[in-house]
Parts: sequence; structure tokens; C-alpha cells
Amino acid sequence: MASVTSLSDSVQQHLASALTAALPEAAGADPLLRRSDRADFQANGILALAKKAKANPRELATQVVSQVATGDVIDDVEVSGPGFLNITIADKAITGNLAARYADESGRLGVPYTEKPGTTVIDYAQPNVAKEMHVGHLRSAVIGDSVVKLLEFTGENVVRRHHIGDWGTQFGMLIQYLEEHPHELDHKASTDDTAASGEEAMSNLDRLYKAARKLFDSDEEFKTRARRRVVDLQAGDPKTLATWQKFVDESKIYFFSVFEKLDMEIRDADIVGESGYNDMLAETCRLLEESGVAVRSEGALCVFFDDIKGPDGNPVPLIVQKSDGGYGYAATDLSAIRDRVFHLKANELIYVVDARQSLHFKMVFETARRAGWLNDDVKAYQLAFGTVLGKDGKPFKTREGETVRLVDLLDEAIDRATAVVREKDTLGQLSEEEIAERGAQVGIGAVKYADLSTSANRDYKFDLDQMVSLNGDTSVYLQYAYARIQSILRKAGEVRPAAHPELSLHAAERALGLHLDAFAETVAEAAAEYAPHKMTAYLYHLASLFTTFYDKCQVLSADNPAEVVENRLLLCDVTARTLHQGMALLGIRTPERL
Ligand code: ARG
Repeated sequence: MASVTSLSDSVQQHLASALTAALPEAAGADPLLRRSDRADFQANGILALAKKAKANPRELATQVVSQVATGDVIDDVEVSGPGFLNITIADKAITGNLAARYADESGRLGVPYTEKPGTTVIDYAQPNVAKEMHVGHLRSAVIGDSVVKLLEFTGENVVRRHHIGDWGTQFGMLIQYLEEHPHELDHKASTDDTAASGEEAMSNLDRLYKAARKLFDSDEEFKTRARRRVVDLQAGDPKTLATWQKFVDESKIYFFSVFEKLDMEIRDADIVGESGYNDMLAETCRLLEESGVAVRSEGALCVFFDDIKGPDGNPVPLIVQKSDGGYGYAATDLSAIRDRVFHLKANELIYVVDARQSLHFKMVFETARRAGWLNDDVKAYQLAFGTVLGKDGKPFKTREGETVRLVDLLDEAIDRATAVVREKDTLGQLSEEEIAERGAQVGIGAVKYADLSTSANRDYKFDLDQMVSLNGDTSVYLQYAYARIQSILRKAGEVRPAAHPELSLHAAERALGLHLDAFAETVAEAAAEYAPHKMTAYLYHLASLFTTFYDKCQVLSADNPAEVVENRLLLCDVTARTLHQGMALLGIRTPERL
């Protein structure tokens, strides 16, 4: 149960009882209430009910209206169009609702806990060992982190899984090279600076990768030694595994430095990479082969699908085990499903992965369904995301045509945002340290917000100028709205927010108050649909309504009676809390001053 009942729930209850009184057989029917531009709420459910009862919809609507108890919550209700109900909320109910949120110490802002929490495993933020992170890894991390937070806020049990790419034949040449050049991963100086050690780790790995590759391509004997290493690695040879572990550890230093820059908490225990399922691979294959889900074809273990064919019209199978006995990406993912379903007891598996891997997941999920690991009670879903494009609308690349390093991108966003913060601080009130801290919060917020505000499956343009713009649908705009409210509350000093339900409200106050009431619905929708963009849209609308309110209604004016000041401070305060909580669900900070 929510600690604060929303206005929409109260209206819903009022309408449901009026409906039952007017048409007893409609008991329990949904009046289909929605927020509307024409009235505070509109109910459209009477049309269908009238049709079912073979009654005239306008007449039925009129009967329902006569049964609606007006007063405390509903001020007025009218029939409109073919039989809609337009509902106006009483000002005192809007104020009363704000007061309840303000007084509620749970900080839930009217958001209820889900009645039957399940367990959801989210697979996100999965970079690859010994490789630089790029914008695709950014999307998975940012979207995944927000979905984790949204679901946790509703009370769902969430298990995070970072399925890092830490296994595969490329490790043969890397391990062999490091064995032959044992000091290549040594750090020059020990430092507490995470960013600096992260940079050093990545540059070591990158240098080693290039050198190993060069040798592998030019030196036949090295190639043979490298291939033998792959066999040793797969056989679990302790010395080979120890060297492999060095690559994983070194990469984690780098990953953690990037996640820290992203202001994102990634826990070591949740990093279960591809190698984490090695022990299950043979059994996964055995289960699939014994049940007939997978069949041997030219020595390989394959799963076939009627609707998946290559350009030549021949079926394209999912290869679970190669003819040489090696296991690939699919075997690992199928084993991970078994682990998540049977060991972690998940009801729902979410994969925040690039849309370009959709065919892989389609085949993997269908295979798991045929094997009985997934079913109507245990579902898997790829939260597929689109490509990050450059300003020219083409996949984001450097001028030299290389993939853009994620760190460079984040640093540039922080630089731009720092400039904006410095420029806005016309009175020179912020110290250099404060400018740097806010610059990072604004810059990283801008990158996250831009990513989250388009629905995940769409491509979007990475345009820093737009991202740090103070006007428009950006995180900076929301952060400024929040900081402005904090400044008002500070200026109010001793005067505290307080509810005065007897006051009639300005249209801008009503609009803001009613939108605040919609926070719970927004959280529920964004969580149920794994759609953080619904939260960004809500918050942007909230900040816009606040701007209008602030324009139209003086808050701290000496001309205002004390009750008006207090009542408006209440609106300010609840708006600030809602902005803060909403942004937190997106992983974005709201500095107190900007
Ligand atoms: N490491 C992969 C990549 O960089 C993403 C892993 C996605 N998760 C999974 N369970 N396959 O593309």
C-alpha cells in the first residue's frame, strides 16, 4: 500500500462506487480514468459499459454523474461528448495531497511497493576484458543502471549480472605474450587516483594487445605457442589460468575507473563474466542433445529454427558446440540462463544489449524455451538498444574512423559542463573545487539523460552542445530547476512550507500539483515497461510546469499573505523532492546549488 493515496486512486474509487450505484451489473468495472488536457481527469469507460448494457451512453453517463459524491475530492463532474466524464479536482484535495506527501517520512512520494515482488536478473554493463570501452558499453550501463533503480524502488528483488567478455581464443596469444614478456602489465607507480590507474591499466593492455597481435600475425612459431595456450587455458592449467587472471584483474581496474567516472556503483560480486559458466557448458550441451532440442550437424551441436534462414535460403542454426569441441557465446548464454533460473530463482531475465545482437538472443531464448528452462512464468527479454550516432547521423566514429573511446567522450562532456557551470556563476560564488564537482555532475548527468530520454530501441545522435544546453529537454535544465527551488527554500529562511487547503489555487499551481500526483503512475509504468524515457518525459514536464508556476505565481513576495507563501513553498518543496527522487532513479545527481 502506498503511504499516500494518490488523487487518481481516490477519483477512481469515487467513480467506481457511482458506477455501481447507477448500474449494479457494472460493479467492479473499470471507469478507464486518465489525466487529460480538457479536464483534470477524464473517464472513458462508460461507453463500453453502455454498449454492453444496451443503454444510451450519454444517459448512463448522466446517471453516473448524479451518483458521484462531490465535495472533498471531486469538485465537479460533467458529461462530455458521446458519454465521457470530465472531472475537476477540488483545490483543497490538491493541497491536501501535497501536504500528505510533504509529511510522509518514508520519502516514497506516494509510490507504493509492488504487491508480489519477483526476482529479476538484469544483465547490463558488460565490457570486454583487455578491450577499451566504447559508446555501446555506455548505453548498456546507463540504461541497465536506471532499470535496476526503477525496479528496486518498486520493491522488486533485483540481481545484477555483468556478463563481461573474459573468455575466448584471443586469450591464447595474450597469455603467451605476457609469459614471454612478464613485466608488461606492471604499474609504474602505485597511486590512489582511480582515473589515473585506470588509464594506465588500459594503456598497458592496449599496448600488450597490439604487440601480441603483431607477433601472432608475423611469427608462425609464436602463433603455434599461442594456440597451445588456448588448449591449456581450456584444460584449466593452473599457471595459464593465473596469467589469464592478471588480464581480468587489470581490466577490472580500468572498468571500475570508468564506472566511477560515470558515477555508477558496480559491485565486484555482480561481475560474473563468460568464464563464470565454464563448469556448466558440457552439461548444457548434454541436456540439449539428450532432449533433442539440439542435434549434431557436420560434427557441430546445433539448434535449428523454421523462421531463421540465411540469404541462400538455408536454415541458420544456433551453434552450441563447434565441431572441434569448442564452446562459444551461445553455450555460455544458455548456461547463464540455467544459472539464473534454477540457482538465482529468477522470474524475469532482462538483457540490456545492443539491438545488433537480437538474432542471437532470439535463438538463445527460443532454445531455452524448448528445453523448458524458460516458460510463461519465467521469461527472458532483450532490452535492445539502438546505435549511438555522430552529428552526421552515421555511427559514432573519430575523424580517423576509429571507435570513440568512452573515457574521452566523458571527459569532453565534463569539460563542456564545467564551462557552463563556470559561466553561470556570474557572481563568482563557487570555489574551483565546487565548479569541478558540479561540472562532473552536470556533464555525466547530461550524457546519461540524453541516452535515457530517447526510447532505448532508437538510435540517437551524440551531440554535446545539445546535451549541456540550459534550455530544452536536458538534465541541466532539470538540475537548474532543482537548484532554483533549493535557493527559494533557503531564502524563505524561518518560513516553512505549510498547507492551507482553504486557499483557492492559480491554474499554474493546480497544473503543477496534479502533475506531482502522477509520480507513482510514472514509476509504475517506467518500471513495468523497462522504460526510463517515461521518467525523463515526466520530469521534463514537471520542470516546465514549475517554470510556468514560478513565472506566474510569486512565492516569496512581500505582497503575499503568509498563508499563500507557505502554501506555495509546499509546492516548491514537493516539486524539489520529486525531481530529486526521479533523477536519482535515472542515476543523475541534483546539486543543491548551481
Ligand atoms: N560483452 C558483450 C559485448 O560487448 C555483451 C554481453 C551481453 N550479455 C550477454 N549475456 N551476452 O558485446
